[in-house]
Formats: sequence, C-alpha cells, structure tokens
Amino acid sequence: MRKNIVAGNWKMNNDLAASKKLANQVAKLVKKNKVKGTKVIIAPTFVNLERVAKATKKSKVKVAAQNMHFAESGAFTGEISPKMLKSIGVKTVILGHSERREYFGEDDALLAKKVDAALENKMDVIFCFGEVLEDRKSGKQEHVVESQIKNALFHLEAKAFDSIVLAYEPVWAIGTGETASPEQAQDMHAFIRKTVANKYGDEVANEVSILYGGSCKPGNAQEIFSKPDVDGGLIGGAALNAEDFLAIVTAF
Ligand code: PGA
Repeated sequence: MRKNIVAGNWKMNNDLAASKKLANQVAKLVKKNKVKGTKVIIAPTFVNLERVAKATKKSKVKVAAQNMHFAESGAFTGEISPKMLKSIGVKTVILGHSERREYFGEDDALLAKKVDAALENKMDVIFCFGEVLEDRKSGKQEHVVESQIKNALFHLEAKAFDSIVLAYEPVWAIGTGETASPEQAQDMHAFIRKTVANKYGDEVANEVSILYGGSCKPGNAQEIFSKPDVDGGLIGGAALNAEDFLAIVTAF
C-alpha cells in the first residue's frame, strides 16, 4: 500500500558505538515528535544491523539492509544471504543503489535475481535506480530509468509490488549537494508511475510508493515531498545526523 516513507541509508559510516547512538537518537526523536503516517527506516552497515535492530525493536523505527546476495547460502565469500538477514529480524533490503551498480558492478540481471530472492523470502525491497549526468544532459533520463525498472522488475507479477518501494535517485544528485528540483523529481516520479501503470495497470501504479533520493535535506525536503507523486525520500548524508533526519521525516 502507498505510504509516506523516509529511509536513512547510512552507507559505510558509523562503527558500533556510533550506530547504536544514532539509532537510539532517531528512535527517541520519532517518539518525541509523535511521528504518525510516515514509515521511518534506517539502514546501518551489515555488522551493526543486529544491534541496531535490537536497539530500535520497541520503537517505530524499522531497520533495513543496504544490500544482500541472492543465494540462500554457499561459497560466496564476504556475502550475506536473505535468510541471515531474516534470522536477525531484518525484513527490508535496499537493492540497486547506484553505488552498488557503479563500484561493485551490479547490473540489472543481477538485481533481478536479488529482487526475486528477497520476495521469495518475504522481504520488502527498496529498489533504487536513476540516471547519470550524461543521460540527463542528453535527454535520455526517462529511457534509462524505464529500462532499469523493466529489466529488474517487469518479470514480476503485479502482487509483488505490494512488497516493493521504488526509489528514484538521479546519480548526479547523490552526495553532490545538487538536488533535483521539485519539478524534475515530480516529472520523473509521474513518468515512473506511468511506466508501472502501462505494465500493471493504474491500481498497482497508484499503490506503489516512490521515494526521491539525492541530496535531500531539511531545507528542501518539504518542497520535494509536497509533489503529488513523491512519497518520501531515501536519505544519505542527512541521515547521519538525528535532528536533520527527523526534520526530513516530519517534512510531510
Ligand atoms: P545523499 O545520498 O542524500 O547523501 O545524496 C542519497 C543516497 O545515496 O541514497
């Protein structure tokens, strides 16, 4: 079901002590601000997931992994399986982040397998995609986004979209301080919804949450979130500070 969601992607930041501290601060602020109607998610690194999941268990804050492997188990040195995540109470995973695509060679075919594995394990997926600057400059952004979505998700049945959140993250806006304008975000989100509608119908398209990511911060979240097809954000840098993150969570 379509929801307002704000998810903090901590990336490769925060050791154990810092992770617990930030998670506790976020949980406290969510409670203090009586956050209602917005799902709040934080995604620490793998090693700190279990402790953060424990620290936030009694709060409204949910925990997600930043990645995972598609296999159940086996000879995949350094990898983490869906089952392992579930065994520590983690039921949501971010897949397809542009940093995974760019630095770790994750392509659409691999991501399709990861999405399948997550769904088979009854996990929720925050699926990320977005164009690079050259695509935007040459007007290819819609084509790129459409193919990323089609290649990784359009083999699925409509029902799968109950467990999928889409996250549009223009690569040129991630960690650069340069944000898509609210109009650019809205235009792309409307296009994404139309792409989903063309394949699965209006009902599925209207029910899927589409998040914006890329230099989203307290100063711009409200305007971006006010757009009709923007259902929240995937937040990197600003999620590392509890007050800033909460200001974004309460920006709706
Ligand atoms: P940023 O990162 O907010 O630091 O730009 C967003 C993301 O990568 O999810």
